[in-house]
Amino acid sequence: MNTVKVLTPASSAEWAAYYELRWRILRAPWQQTGCERDETDDSSIHRMLCRRDGKVLAVGRLHRLDEHSGQIRYMAVESSCERRGYGTLVVTALEQAAIEIGIEKIILHARERAVPFYQHHGYKAIEPSFLLFDEIQHYLMTKNLSVVRQGFP
Ligand SMILES: CC(C)(COP(=O)(O)OP(=O)(O)OC[C@H]1O[C@@H](n2cnc3c(N)ncnc32)[C@H](O)[C@@H]1OP(=O)(O)O)[C@@H](O)C(=O)NCCC(=O)NCCS
Repeated sequence: MNTVKVLTPASSAEWAAYYELRWRILRAPWQQTGCERDETDDSSIHRMLCRRDGKVLAVGRLHRLDEHSGQIRYMAVESSCERRGYGTLVVTALEQAAIEIGIEKIILHARERAVPFYQHHGYKAIEPSFLLFDEIQHYLMTKNLSVVRQGFP
């Protein structure tokens, strides 16, 4: 675990690797291209987990919805690296960033298979939300960050 670090993509090579992993995990298996980016990316907070040699192994994004709430989207971990705690490091970094800009509540739409991951991090499933590509059921989930904030010194 100490051979990886969480960064904000900065160089053009880092941005390319960041979006490539997002596309490869979340879109390519369904032959979808182009929809891995959206108009909110430019104003969002991005985090990526890299190996010491720079290879990107996990990514995620946070954007503000209103004064008090934000949304996490596009969480993706390299398939061969799941269940090593990398998703945890990225989602925790995004939550810390959210707290730093005054966001108190996170909402997200989790793929069905990602629901246990978010539950592990204190998110509550509210209701089924939408079906992506006619097959991937999503669930609206929320977390109040005041619980997280109390954990900081
Ligand atoms: C969902 C995802 C982001 C989780 O990241 P990860 O690095 O594999 O998860 P972590 O290792 O940090 O898991 C932390 C804990 O969450 C829970 N968890 C994670 N994945 C789980 C799964 N598939 N089933 C059950 N629990 C799971 C476990 O409690 C786990 O702790 P443990 O491994 O000690 O039991 C990652 O698997 C992924 O990118 N999946 C494919 C793309 C995707 O579905 N993205 C989410 C879009 S909404």
